[in-house]
Amino acid sequence: MGAAALLAPVCLGGLAACGKSGGGSPSAPTNVDFTVDVSTGALATNGGFLVMNSIIIARTNNGAFLAVSAACTHEGTNVNYVAGSNKFVCPNHGAQFSSTGAVILGPATRNLTSYNTSLNGTSLRVYS
Ligand code: FES
Repeated sequence: MGAAALLAPVCLGGLAACGKSGGGSPSAPTNVDFTVDVSTGALATNGGFLVMNSIIIARTNNGAFLAVSAACTHEGTNVNYVAGSNKFVCPNHGAQFSSTGAVILGPATRNLTSYNTSLNGTSLRVYS
């Protein structure tokens, strides 16, 4: 009996089923206030991004920081940041959002929630 047969199926990049929130529109985080070290990892480089506490934090090609709710307002898949066009793109059905989270292209109809950022040394504060 192979142990591998007991493993749960994994998401291998299919377009439809991966990353959904289970139906309904996701709600954006509220009362946000945390810090992240931008001296290492994805945020140490212009164009990098990461998701923390359900918020996608991105470093633009100009070195500015952006923070918006990560869950696409269509069906909840986490969006990606595309530095070349300075926007957020959902890998699931292709919705696009501006750097401040405004809908550019559907099927999403509601904006991502934008959060404040404040850099103190290498510590970036993300807050409501
Ligand atoms: S989940 Fe459908 S476009 Fe994002």
